[in-house]
Amino acid sequence: METLNRLTAQATADIQACVDSNDLEQLRVQYLGKKGLITELMKQLGTVPPEQRPQLGALINEAKEIVQGLLQDRKILLSENLLIEQLRREQVDVSLPGRQVARGGLHPITQTLQRIQNFFHQLGFSTVEGPEVEDDYHNFEALNIPAHHPARAMHDTFYMKDAQGCYDAQGCYFDAKRLLRTHTSPVQIRTMKKGQPPFRMICPGRVYRCDSDITHTPMFHQVEGLWVDKNISFADLKGILAAFLRFFFEKELEVRFRPSYFPFTEPSAEVDVQCVACEGRGCRICSHTGWLEVLGCGMVHPKVFEHTGVDATYTGLAFGLGVERFTMLRYGVSDLRHFFENDLKFLSQF
Ligand code: PHE
Repeated sequence: METLNRLTAQATADIQACVDSNDLEQLRVQYLGKKGLITELMKQLGTVPPEQRPQLGALINEAKEIVQGLLQDRKILLSENLLIEQLRREQVDVSLPGRQVARGGLHPITQTLQRIQNFFHQLGFSTVEGPEVEDDYHNFEALNIPAHHPARAMHDTFYMKDAQGCYDAQGCYFDAKRLLRTHTSPVQIRTMKKGQPPFRMICPGRVYRCDSDITHTPMFHQVEGLWVDKNISFADLKGILAAFLRFFFEKELEVRFRPSYFPFTEPSAEVDVQCVACEGRGCRICSHTGWLEVLGCGMVHPKVFEHTGVDATYTGLAFGLGVERFTMLRYGVSDLRHFFENDLKFLSQF
């Protein structure tokens, strides 16, 4: 009797002090397992005088049930605590700002290229491309650029070491020096040689020159334009370029054409636009002239038609512009080299 009471009291205390479900299982084994303390008492019942057995048996059973009940309650409590603890640990602060997905963007040069193409596509021009490794014939010869022209000097152009000839897209072999094209104008030649007039194309692409300072990088981008058809006149050239410049800069700017010289156009002109920064009043960007020189253009030279086999009943206009310069003017960028340094602080502003 005495032993049973002490055992029950001890079991109760043990169970209530238990904080871990594994320990609780240990306690169950200790008291109620096959060799458990209460189980042992039950086994010893045989040694008790028969008349005491029913009463003692009932008491042991009662103790067993009490301990079982306590174990059960404690088990539920522990698992609830476990859940509460887990919920606390895995709590989500729904008020925290979300993690941003870092979004990329288009390079400012790409944005300008798209803007230029967007305009000319609406006028029915299509985009064509040409090789960046050119030959002397397409880059100079067919464009009527004479042998003594400074652009042909070794120090102005990147020539390939193996001065072998090469094949163009039409399988035509050119036995001349290969070089990195210095402008996109050779694509005029390739376009006219390949197809039949009329032609209406623009050609965006990389070009290379042996130059490096604040306003020059050895690689830069140009967009060439060519429109050949019956009755294309200088008035078309003026109209298209003025409309383009106003579209590009989103301002009703004055545009002026100054006589100039390119071997592959006649007549030739440089196009100036009223300064986009000061609108003609004069500032540092336009060197206080109120004007910015932005493109070269002209009517296709008869010699170029001769080289490409376009008959003399056609006329054509051509122009070429520097994409970096347009981008700098549109966004107010002061150093050309920013475009090619891949600095995110710069690039993410566009
Ligand atoms: N190719 C000339 C340059 O790079 C630009 C140009 C293109 C001029 C077409 C007239 C016509 O400077």
